[in-house]
Amino acid sequence: MKKNPLILGIETSCDETAASIIQQEKNGVKILSNVVSSQTDVHKKFGGVVPELAARSHLEKIDLIVKKAIKDSGVEIKNIDAIASTGGPGLVVCLSVGLNFGKAFAASLNKPFIAINHLEGHALSPMLNSKIKFPYLLLLISGGHSQFLSVEGLGKYKRLGTTIDDAVGEAFDKTAKLLGIEFPGGAQIEKYAEKGDLNRFILPKPIINRGGCNLSFAGLKTAVLKISKNLKSKKDKYDLAASFQNTIEEILSHKSKVAFNEFKKRNKNKSNIFVIAGGVASNKKIRIKLKELSLKEKFQPIFPPIDLCSDNAAMIAMAGLEKYKKKKFDSLNFAVNPRWQLDEKANFMKGAGVKL
Ligand code: KG4
Ligand code: ZN
Repeated sequence: MKKNPLILGIETSCDETAASIIQQEKNGVKILSNVVSSQTDVHKKFGGVVPELAARSHLEKIDLIVKKAIKDSGVEIKNIDAIASTGGPGLVVCLSVGLNFGKAFAASLNKPFIAINHLEGHALSPMLNSKIKFPYLLLLISGGHSQFLSVEGLGKYKRLGTTIDDAVGEAFDKTAKLLGIEFPGGAQIEKYAEKGDLNRFILPKPIINRGGCNLSFAGLKTAVLKISKNLKSKKDKYDLAASFQNTIEEILSHKSKVAFNEFKKRNKNKSNIFVIAGGVASNKKIRIKLKELSLKEKFQPIFPPIDLCSDNAAMIAMAGLEKYKKKKFDSLNFAVNPRWQLDEKANFMKGAGVKL
């Protein structure tokens, strides 16, 4: 392997067009550029991501974003050692843009191409600024996923628990919509919550005392929907946001404690590292709560920096770098995999009839 490999990462799985160049250095990884272009303006009038519009926007921007990432990094194209693009999971029409761009770029430079699981990008994102060793416990909380995983090596994941219905980020976004906040409103809920009374509304915590560290948020969403119909003032909205935020904190703390025990048992107490990643991990109060819990339970909490919690290409380049070191390259025939799981042996756990 070359001494200080340079990896170009490309991400287009949902509504962010992103490219980044990172380099392995002696004492860690350096992010040389990290360009993220969000499509919030394209989708906000629809209240959610419209796949065809997202794909069109990726197509319009991908060339510029990759060029900017290369320019910002100051490296010469010919010195890039491998190209890593997100291959799944995500929206098929969106994934295709970044994956095909990456393949064409790799072919034209005659450099290795690496397909990345977007969730593996989130899982390894703390390696961009911390030195961590496998195994570790991961809580992945984003707009599309909510899972506890035992991360046991590159590509080696054991799912300990997952949501049986909505993802945490989805619950934040839906609550925001009910409070009249523009999509995507997750981050705004945190601001509303700061001004409200967290004890004003008692909200349900579905499957809190059963189902191991599996999660469920559908019942909470229904309760928020019912209350939201009778809100009169701004203060009412702040109170509902605060009660919602507090309920999420309590669910995540309680289930993390269950996951700690399952992780310790599985890994025979060999590690006490707890990584919290994904868009919702940028929520400051969730960070504080999970930090407090970890210290009490003798776990070491690790969060990526806030700007690397939400979708970005530096995390895709990071997963690419780890695969590059192990020469795990992919062929240019690699097909988009919109349902790519980290733990491919885990049971399907969504919808009515799920046994817990
Ligand atoms: O990881 P991410 O950027 O995309 C996915 O892979 O899904 O996560 C986006 C999700 C959205 O649901 C967004 O509302 C939520 O993360 N989010 C937050 C905050 N910032 C982003 N949720 C709660 N509090 C925040 N501060
Ligand atoms: Zn993501």
